[in-house]
Amino acid sequence: MKVTVSRKAHFNAAHRLFRKDWTMEQNDLVFGKCNNPNFHGHNYELIVSVTGEIDQETGFVIDVKILSDLIKEHVENAFDHKNLNLDVQDFADLNPTAENIAVVIWNKLRKFIDADKELEIVLYETPRNFVTYKGN
Ligand code: NI
Repeated sequence: MKVTVSRKAHFNAAHRLFRKDWTMEQNDLVFGKCNNPNFHGHNYELIVSVTGEIDQETGFVIDVKILSDLIKEHVENAFDHKNLNLDVQDFADLNPTAENIAVVIWNKLRKFIDADKELEIVLYETPRNFVTYKGN
């Protein structure tokens, strides 16, 4: 019997979507307004889910306080009120799309979650646009 435990979190961050090796025209064509050289911001909403068997002693799949602290330390403290391109090393050479941010978050958290549990990241860049990454 597997159960999924989820924790919601939030961060505000700025980014610019572009490739350094493309011309401004190429970048405008593919990334549009997201290629604004002066950056733009999003209110990111994050849902981190852990799936696994219920521990028979505690009744927990994962202690949600532990999950909440992991998100706070490794995601919110790292990304909130930051410029993802300039302030966050993970995106020094990686376009900070919602897809890539979700993968970076998964990689940051995976090592803290028991190996027999599944980890899923859902990241909303806007209320209508969101991506999902489950590590495969
Ligand atoms: Ni954007």
